[in-house]
Amino acid sequence: MALAARGARPPAVRAAPGTALVEVRALQKRFDGQPVLRDLSFTLAKGETLVVMGGSGSGKTVMLRCVAGLIRPSAGTVRLFGKPIETLSEEDLLPIRRRMGYVFQGAALFDSLTVLENVAYPLREHTDLAEAAVRARVVDVLSLVGLGAEVLPQLPSELSGGMRKRVGIARAIVTEPEVLLFDEPTAGLDPTNSRLVAELIVHLKGGVCDTAIVVTHDLDLARTVADRIAILIGGRFAALGPREEVLASPDPAVQAFLGGEAR
Ligand SMILES: Nc1ncnc2c1ncn2[C@@H]1O[C@H](COP(=O)(O)OP(=O)(O)O)[C@@H](O)[C@H]1O
Ligand SMILES: [Mg+2]
Repeated sequence: MALAARGARPPAVRAAPGTALVEVRALQKRFDGQPVLRDLSFTLAKGETLVVMGGSGSGKTVMLRCVAGLIRPSAGTVRLFGKPIETLSEEDLLPIRRRMGYVFQGAALFDSLTVLENVAYPLREHTDLAEAAVRARVVDVLSLVGLGAEVLPQLPSELSGGMRKRVGIARAIVTEPEVLLFDEPTAGLDPTNSRLVAELIVHLKGGVCDTAIVVTHDLDLARTVADRIAILIGGRFAALGPREEVLASPDPAVQAFLGGEAR
């Protein structure tokens, strides 16, 4: 799918496979002095999907928001596309944020806007595409997530939970970001829709966007999409490594967590 051919402005240079797109070092985040993230370090390389698992309230969303530059770390560094974000002003952060797509927990769609307007929103913000091109682009990405043009005039309230999730993913990929950030993409979905979303994430990896961080407590999702898995317990990674290695980790805390999630 060639966004450039439709007249938008994709990033001038795309990273080579293996390049570090996200580098997190000794990340800490406290709220009112209370530590949530105590010491997180990881690198996300171009071409890989990192799944971060953790229980409810373990700080998964906080971590993702730090990576997206939506909130500032209390300590440590976050480098995006080679740039340390703590040294950047809000204004300088914007073009970097645009290179990342964020799929919010829930779908976080605008309730009063149609599907067309929801998905078109980032295009209208960040490009000067003509109306016809915007619509064509929206139809393209909806088809990528398995939705037809008949949903264009519908309001989010008229869609099923699984369809709303797909629209949220379509909105995140419409500008062809280099990194996708998924916050609990299967939360609240039934097993069938959860499996469809997992397959969609795998499908996107083969084309639109091959680099992602997926935050979840869904073990089936992790098994399906992860290259590497990190397990967040007590503000630190109790394990971080290739999928099979982490799933077979002898660490009792990791096994206790995985056993609990598998039940
Ligand atoms: N803006 C905030 N102010 C104060 N506490 C927060 C804020 N955001 C998150 N927290 C706290 O941080 C902890 C981790 O939250 P969160 O990242 O949402 O967990 P989850 O792993 O379920 O996504 C929770 O105890 C939550 O109350
Ligand atoms: Mg969360």
